[in-house]
Amino acid sequence: MNHILSTNKFTKDQVESILARAHSLESSYKDESTSKLLSDKVIACVFFEPSTRTRLSFETAALRLGAKVISVENAMESSSAYKGETIEDTARMLSCYADAIVIRHPTPFSVEKASKATETPILNAGDGANQHPSQGLLDLYTIQKEHGKLNDLNIIFVGDVLHSRTLNSLIPLFSLYSGITLEFVSPKELVLSAEQKKELTDRNISFKESDNLVEALPSADVIYMIRVQKERFASEGEYDKVKDTFILKPEHLNVMKEDAIIMHPLPRINEIDQSIDTDKRAAYFRQAGNAVYVRMALFLHVFNL
Ligand code: CP
Repeated sequence: MNHILSTNKFTKDQVESILARAHSLESSYKDESTSKLLSDKVIACVFFEPSTRTRLSFETAALRLGAKVISVENAMESSSAYKGETIEDTARMLSCYADAIVIRHPTPFSVEKASKATETPILNAGDGANQHPSQGLLDLYTIQKEHGKLNDLNIIFVGDVLHSRTLNSLIPLFSLYSGITLEFVSPKELVLSAEQKKELTDRNISFKESDNLVEALPSADVIYMIRVQKERFASEGEYDKVKDTFILKPEHLNVMKEDAIIMHPLPRINEIDQSIDTDKRAAYFRQAGNAVYVRMALFLHVFNL
């Protein structure tokens, strides 16, 4: 089945093929031949959680490939989920209308549940704090493009690593490469879970944890800032306590490597001072732009094209 639910089972060959396809699409995405590749397909994008980048870049990717798009935003209220329809029944219905289905949902593993109800390819656009596979792949694409390699890199993740589905999707991808060391800089309330640590250990990824951003910055090739995920907290008070623990500020640029890159899946709240946006190391808007090529490559992958 050509569902893309997580990055857990990707082989290095599959990942490299998707990245290479994305690279080729980056220079050909406006070609007439590209715009015919999915001209007989309809893609459904159904988002039960808010999104700017993921929904619109998946839709752009589909449109650039010539597919037609049907779309539901705010699906918790505006689809029949509001009346109590299950995710399985929603998936069954969508498979009557569309050739592939992109789903974002707040509940971990709900997209996997949906995939069991249909043979129509389902692409997970983020399921709670579990996985965000297309984001992981576009992040890998960005690192490769910016650094020219995916081996021998020191990568630091800063902020809410506990709730980061993007991090969960990146861990299996990093394990396909050598010489990658990870450092997690987070407030004590948002450190890695036991499951995340086990996943890193089982996948032989070298990592350490700290709460000192300034000490971590000088050796980092990639500084990956993560928003504190307000929507995953039980109360606003708990979120307020930790929300601004780590903010990347202009003075931090002085201790960073000249060729380091700053990434962020976005949306940014306070994690990166806006004055950093003009520094050449700020890669987060370039990263968001790469989403279209990688998501185009993913559509072609699920259709075996
Ligand atoms: N990176 C990301 O998932 O952004 P959106 O929530 O805007 O889709």
